[in-house]
Amino acid sequence: MGIEWHPASRQLHLRNDRVSYLVRILEDGSIGQLHFGAALTEGRSYRHLGRAGFPGFMNRLDDPIALEYPTAGGGDYRMPALTIEQADGSNVVHLGYVSHRIVPGKAAIPGLPSTYLESDDEATSVEIELVDRPSGTEVTLSYTIFRDHPIVARHVRIRNGGASRLRVTTAMSASLDLPDDDWMLVQLSGAWARERHMTDRRLAPGRQSTASLRGASGHEHDPSLILRRATTTETAGEAYGLSLVYSGNFLAEAEVGPFATTRVRLGINPEGFAWILEPGEEFATPEAVLAYSSAGLDGLSAAYHALYRERLARGTWRDRPRPVLINNWEGTYFDFDETKLVDIASVARDLGIELFVLDDGWFGARDDDTSSLGDWVVDRRKLPHGIDGLARRIEALGLRFGLWIEPEMISERSQLFAAHPDWAIGIVGRPRTESRQQLVLDLSRPEIVDHLFTVLSELLASAPISYVKWDMNRNITEPASLGLPAHRQGEFFHRYILGVYDLYARLTAAFPEILFESCAGGGGRFDPGLLAFAPQAWTSDDTDAVERLRIQWGASLIYPLSSMGAHVSAVPNHQTGRLTPIAMRAAVAFFGVFGYELDATSLSPAERADVLDQVSFYKDHRALFQRGRFVRLRSPFEDDGNETAWMTVSDDRRRAIVGFYRTLNRPNPGVNRLRLRELDPAARYRVTLWPARADSIEHDNAVVRGGDELTQIGLFLDVDRHETSTHGDYWAQLFVLEAE
Ligand code: GLA
Repeated sequence: MGIEWHPASRQLHLRNDRVSYLVRILEDGSIGQLHFGAALTEGRSYRHLGRAGFPGFMNRLDDPIALEYPTAGGGDYRMPALTIEQADGSNVVHLGYVSHRIVPGKAAIPGLPSTYLESDDEATSVEIELVDRPSGTEVTLSYTIFRDHPIVARHVRIRNGGASRLRVTTAMSASLDLPDDDWMLVQLSGAWARERHMTDRRLAPGRQSTASLRGASGHEHDPSLILRRATTTETAGEAYGLSLVYSGNFLAEAEVGPFATTRVRLGINPEGFAWILEPGEEFATPEAVLAYSSAGLDGLSAAYHALYRERLARGTWRDRPRPVLINNWEGTYFDFDETKLVDIASVARDLGIELFVLDDGWFGARDDDTSSLGDWVVDRRKLPHGIDGLARRIEALGLRFGLWIEPEMISERSQLFAAHPDWAIGIVGRPRTESRQQLVLDLSRPEIVDHLFTVLSELLASAPISYVKWDMNRNITEPASLGLPAHRQGEFFHRYILGVYDLYARLTAAFPEILFESCAGGGGRFDPGLLAFAPQAWTSDDTDAVERLRIQWGASLIYPLSSMGAHVSAVPNHQTGRLTPIAMRAAVAFFGVFGYELDATSLSPAERADVLDQVSFYKDHRALFQRGRFVRLRSPFEDDGNETAWMTVSDDRRRAIVGFYRTLNRPNPGVNRLRLRELDPAARYRVTLWPARADSIEHDNAVVRGGDELTQIGLFLDVDRHETSTHGDYWAQLFVLEAE
């Protein structure tokens, strides 16, 4: 691994065993992009891959020249990565090479979350300095190549080195110019309760994108972009991933140009964005994490999982086993008192659950969602002994205690609003759009972040709180800040997210023992930016087992199991009304950070026995479920989506758990074998089934079988049509593999 400077060809080669990233200083001083993809041999010149004799676009406008950080106004009519409005009103910038610096390790980006290292030998970085002399714009392109991952991380810093004000209106984190257009664009899209569904489409001429303008990354699209060949599968073929470490408005775009090349851009959404740089000021973009796989989508996911689990997530809880929790939200909604909560917790304790989480409704006078956000003071009508009294009773039962907060919000019916009506985001003279009967606090203003830090620190220090669920239940409307002058209003959305990050950074630093879980009406801000502060996130408000198959499958394209909160809830399911067996609900929720979202006191004796067994099974295999190598086997997005299968494998390949799920049963089935992956071909695995069964599926599978055989031939499903007739719908079966 390293970065090689080739003076004769003026080329920089970032390389590890799996990928190469090659750029070259072109004759006019701009940076040409030669290659990002499979590793190329070191010590060679690749100069010929960037056009020789390049003097701009003078002779043939639109030339498909691959540029590293394209700007507008010079004959490249594709979308630019950087646009800067200057004192004379023009937008033309020509960045020319000044110098570069290769350094071991990786620097942090001030104010923004990013991937990091534990020792400098894990990565090498290069910073390329560029300048546009007429405007005084100075740009640093920063790259890191990781030793152990097929990944390059990039970000850009833009400085005003001139004497007049600059207005940055586009500042992408990454731009890639790929030499052909033969790609499928894979996106993770949806809405509340059906987040991160995987869809793909073939690239067509022109621009195709996903984006957010909500002030959060949003339920609608993940801040990423994946390209695969039409022939790429889970296990074979090329794929690129670009993932943005950011929680605000983003743009992920692919543009096919007239010469069948593809430009990919990822970064802050330029729509509504404008950042003022006075002389001497600097702006840093979020980090883009670029991955390449020649081994299908699985190769891409495995790379992201490993990096994001260990070098993006951080803090005390990064590597710790995460507790099995019970959350009272769907169990009680706003209708609870101390006795009710303690009753739930004591049943939960008897069932082996480790953490009790008190959700919304404990503060102010919040009996429904019309009031009290911002008043983080316990409601003594419900909890006469305060949060501290309740938390101590929960701890006395032998559980840890966790608490829900929604720091960024304010209700019009609240003491905070009465005292500070101007703290809510809005525009004087315009009505505010309400959503969920609440408004958003202006976290772009440091004094409001300071207030929240003070209030929340006092709250978290006031009781034995081990866990915090940090929710965010509405998006921003009427975006503007009273804290910014008119010419800086274009900075508002980004400054809001910087405020969120600042508050997260200060609270997680002040309370390193607290496990933070992020949430935004489920997966409305489930993104790499927040993963840097909260190592797990509530994946979706939709806990229906069938729906969760798609949601968790989609999220797994990028996010590791350790980041996905997954709970068993009651039936009929509160989002779909569907009745699935509790075994299926658990078998889906096991693959992630497991818990329950129900009133444990209303479980029947049979269900209690099931939960007891589920919790103990999960704890026995917790490391596999939270930190195993996740492998997707059968997609709910392919064919009719009726069957899903996935597995998790330990690093040493000695243990694995396979999950198989069938939504609707079909009579008289054909032969159905499930081939596994990532096993040790030479090992012999003892196979056991969860739940256990007394039929031929148990009989045929529960034997010792070779890793090679399980990979080449697979597990047996549907061997006997008479038995199949008894399965019913919503069948979930886990197979536990242990090497002898
Ligand atoms: C959001 C969360 C839920 C719950 C409610 C409480 O919808 O996603 O899990 O916390 O808020 O209001």
